[in-house]
Amino acid sequence: MNRPDTAPEREALADRLAAQGHLRSRAWRAAVEAVPREHFLSTGVFLPDEANGLWRPVLPGSVSPQEWVEIVYSDQSLVTQLDGCLTPDQVIEPVRGFPTSSSTVPATVVGMLEDLDVHDGQNVAEIGTGTGYSTALMCHRLGEDNVTSIEVDAEVAARADDALEKAGFSTWTVTGDGLLGNPRRAPFDRLIATCAVRRIPYTWVRQTRPGGVILATVGPGAWSYGTGLAKLTVREDGTAQGQIIGRSSFMPARAEAAVPLSGDLAARAAYADTERTTALSPAVLEQWMPAFLAQLAAPGAQFVHARSGDGRETTYLFDTHRESFAALSKGGELWTVRQGGPIAIWDAIEAAVTAWQRVGEPDVDAVRLTVTAKAHTYSIGGNPTLRWEHRID
Ligand SMILES: C[S@@+](CC[C@H](N)C(=O)[O-])C[C@H]1O[C@@H](n2cnc3c(N)ncnc32)[C@H](O)[C@@H]1O
Repeated sequence: MNRPDTAPEREALADRLAAQGHLRSRAWRAAVEAVPREHFLSTGVFLPDEANGLWRPVLPGSVSPQEWVEIVYSDQSLVTQLDGCLTPDQVIEPVRGFPTSSSTVPATVVGMLEDLDVHDGQNVAEIGTGTGYSTALMCHRLGEDNVTSIEVDAEVAARADDALEKAGFSTWTVTGDGLLGNPRRAPFDRLIATCAVRRIPYTWVRQTRPGGVILATVGPGAWSYGTGLAKLTVREDGTAQGQIIGRSSFMPARAEAAVPLSGDLAARAAYADTERTTALSPAVLEQWMPAFLAQLAAPGAQFVHARSGDGRETTYLFDTHRESFAALSKGGELWTVRQGGPIAIWDAIEAAVTAWQRVGEPDVDAVRLTVTAKAHTYSIGGNPTLRWEHRID
């Protein structure tokens, strides 16, 4: 097949990213213009079919060369693996599945690389190689010997390594659990994660030089939204401090993916220790910042809306590790909240959300984070109700 040269598309991509404010420096612009994204998508992509919730496999050869280039340079994340094993070249018909690897939307990739604030000669670790596209951008910017990329899935890692070689980058791709970093290539000046984590592994702090930066999406509850991009600076005393610099959403680190709630939820919430009313609607959890706060206040809780046979709607929050639940249902103007188990989940969430409302509902970038070997401490301003310590024991 006659493959088009994509230099014009890369330049157009760089122009769009610059206009949107994601691409801010000459050096990253040169990388975006130089690295062909199609090199990293040779086994195709799964495109979502909104109508039926299925994923449609598209291969470089199954559409016209021009259509393929349009897909490759579209402003979207391109899913390359479902359910930890399935690639687009293995199926013909649309399939159901859960995305487990992708080429992240360039706006996010480039925005994060700019936020990483790298300088020439720095040694960078990337957690979550995926297709290898973001790795290639870093290799272009810093040189292949200064980039170590860790991917947990051996097949994904092999494909990325192959694509990187073909693109001219013999970099350090490592198959392994990125939550453990890579001691052989440490210390790093910068560490960037393109999968979400429940907490910043202390190993990352240990493997980053004092003054170095860690950039990763955190969500203590592993919700798919209500997560934030943490930018931390490692200090001489072995702690890391910084803040959440914006909203961010990534697929969770493999070992940390939440198991969906299942079974008879009403039966699991049958015996409550307390019952009261609340004016705070559980619908607040659909919003990004309250969802982030909920994860800080009740880090083990998962939530689900359910509708019973008689049409009655209930919002459940379960902390399965601590055998606790909260169940909220509408009763007139207010909500009835029933709670069971040692953790009063809704009490904790309600206290956090109402305290946050009282201080003017700041966005996620008001959240500060300190990581030590023993704990993560999140805070907003000096309000003691807006301070959460998650201990690692
Ligand atoms: C969103 S994709 C990465 C996108 C990639 N940086 C790119 O631009 O193409 C996330 C990747 O993280 C990988 N991953 C998940 N958990 C991991 C872990 N614990 N260690 C290393 N990689 C992990 C997944 O297998 C997946 O390939």
